[in-house]
Amino acid sequence: MYEAVHRPVLAAEALRLLAPDAQREALFIDATTGEGGHTELFLSSRPRLTAVALDADRRIQEKAKERLARFLPRVTFVRAWFDDFFADYPLERRPDIILFDLGISVFHYERSGGGFSFAKDEPLDMRLNPSSGKSAADLISGLSERELADLIFRYGEERYSRSIAPALQAAFRSGRLKTAREAAEVVAQAVPPAYRRGRLHPATKSFQALRMAVNDEPGRLARALNGAFSVLNPGGVLGVISFHSLEDRAVKRFMKAKAGERHSVNKYRPRPQAAAAEGELLTPKPVTAGAAEIKENPPSRSAKLRAIRKKKNEVE
Ligand SMILES: C[S@@+](CC[C@H](N)C(=O)[O-])C[C@H]1O[C@@H](n2cnc3c(N)ncnc32)[C@H](O)[C@@H]1O
Repeated sequence: MYEAVHRPVLAAEALRLLAPDAQREALFIDATTGEGGHTELFLSSRPRLTAVALDADRRIQEKAKERLARFLPRVTFVRAWFDDFFADYPLERRPDIILFDLGISVFHYERSGGGFSFAKDEPLDMRLNPSSGKSAADLISGLSERELADLIFRYGEERYSRSIAPALQAAFRSGRLKTAREAAEVVAQAVPPAYRRGRLHPATKSFQALRMAVNDEPGRLARALNGAFSVLNPGGVLGVISFHSLEDRAVKRFMKAKAGERHSVNKYRPRPQAAAAEGELLTPKPVTAGAAEIKENPPSRSAKLRAIRKKKNEVE
């Protein structure tokens, strides 16, 4: 059996919130299956559930197929971007439960060969689907210095983006930048020494920004949330686990808007009239990991789970 390297985050909480009834028949879509940690827990704890296991990355999906083989034919695998999948969703059978566990997996850092880890001598690629689109190296060489700095600032919230962008481009031009490890070294040399001694590796935020841009993570998330909610069965639930503030902000705004709460831009102005609610928030505050989970699985420290239930049709 396949031994996964990624530990599913907030898994028990997601199961309790999204599939509380152990005997209910339901269709579950895991929009970000990865190595299949959440899908495995859902299928093994809820015997009447069937699942569609989706991922954009063929390499990791092969591992999930191995791990989840014992559940066939209760699970179907689809390789697609989640926004495209929900845009083209055939509506004959609407899903009752949809889960997104955003970002990438430990597998990507340790076993994919895709250039996600700054410790590895792998080509600086970062594409979840390496057969289309631009790699991280293409972005560094193809963008203007200003565009690259803006991207690193916006998606990585990296305050040294203005010195990192020209350093990356100069290294690329001189042929010194081929691998992920070399890129991380260039970033480390471009920031002040005190920053290098911080808790995070100095390239963490730049790598996050490049990966988000390469895979159009913000655009895909916005489209997918809308698409997923609209195909969801009335009464069905949508859960999203996010790992950084940019993602969590997008998820929170989306869910609040669907629940009829308007985001207030200015606290001194009256809130605009709330829109009609299409759903009910199941998590007024996000669910976060407890001390025991954080100790066992440190990446869970920054995870936030939010969930919303789609309203039942009025006429039923
Ligand atoms: C955090 S991992 C999921 C881990 C999984 N829940 C588990 O327990 O093993 C996120 C997964 O989503 C996939 N992914 C990220 N963005 C995607 C997108 N836009 N469309 C489809 N899959 C995506 C990644 O390839 C990765 O395997």
